[in-house]
Amino acid sequence: GASPLVIAIDGPAGAGKSTVGRALADRLGLEYLDTGAMYRAMTFAVQQRGVPEGDLADVAAVAPLVDIRIDDSTVTVDGVDATEAIRGRDVTEAVSQVAANPTVREVLVQRQRDWVADRDGGVVEGRDIGSVVFPDAALKLYVTASPRVRAERRVNQVGGDVDEVEASIIKRDRFDSSREHSPLTEATGSKVVDTTGMSIDEVVDHILELLEAAR
Ligand code: CDP
Ligand code: CDP
Repeated sequence: GASPLVIAIDGPAGAGKSTVGRALADRLGLEYLDTGAMYRAMTFAVQQRGVPEGDLADVAAVAPLVDIRIDDSTVTVDGVDATEAIRGRDVTEAVSQVAANPTVREVLVQRQRDWVADRDGGVVEGRDIGSVVFPDAALKLYVTASPRVRAERRVNQVGGDVDEVEASIIKRDRFDSSREHSPLTEATGSKVVDTTGMSIDEVVDHILELLEAAR
């Protein structure tokens, strides 16, 4: 049949990938996949089992066994509702280390490809979607904004101290961009969308124009 319509959205923490990705999926009648939630869910499962995040072999052994269900608003991990826990500090501080584990990536990338194959497409958001998971996506976006603006957005969303949040996202971005396997990067052929100073609606409209131009 026709090749699936995949829109890949990558970028650093707090750039607006989830918000924009959901709105875009709504406008296009596509489903939306937050792959960051999958890495967060995996991190939660590793912590629940008492496995140290940096233990390469033990984390690799756990990864294929973890049951992750994501439906719109709820994330269930091994039958437990982890929707709030995966956004908490413990998971946020550990997720980059778990995501650097090559077996974890192998397991989750396969699940992401299966998800798209079951649906003939979707809006998929993460760090390596345009570079590794779906390099042939119809549209590849690298959504970003200045670290300060990203930190301010996070603080408006969930509270906290803006300097602390900014330091934390800079640290995570640096780790995600410098890891050996599937680092965060602007994929070949991706369109950079700098959302500093743009509203969510402006970003969505801009991306719809890019999609129109790409077709
Ligand atoms: O929402 P936020 O930007 O804070 O992060 P996220 O999208 O929930 O992703 C959490 C973490 O998962 C990232 O910092 C990466 O370490 C990892 N991740 C990844 O390695 N590859 C992906 N495709 C998505 C997320
Ligand atoms: O998924 P990611 O970590 O990239 O970011 P997000 O969770 O979608 O967005 C973080 C916060 O920024 C949300 O509260 C959005 O409503 C807000 N945002 C914004 O104020 N302006 C934009 N152009 C995009 C997002």
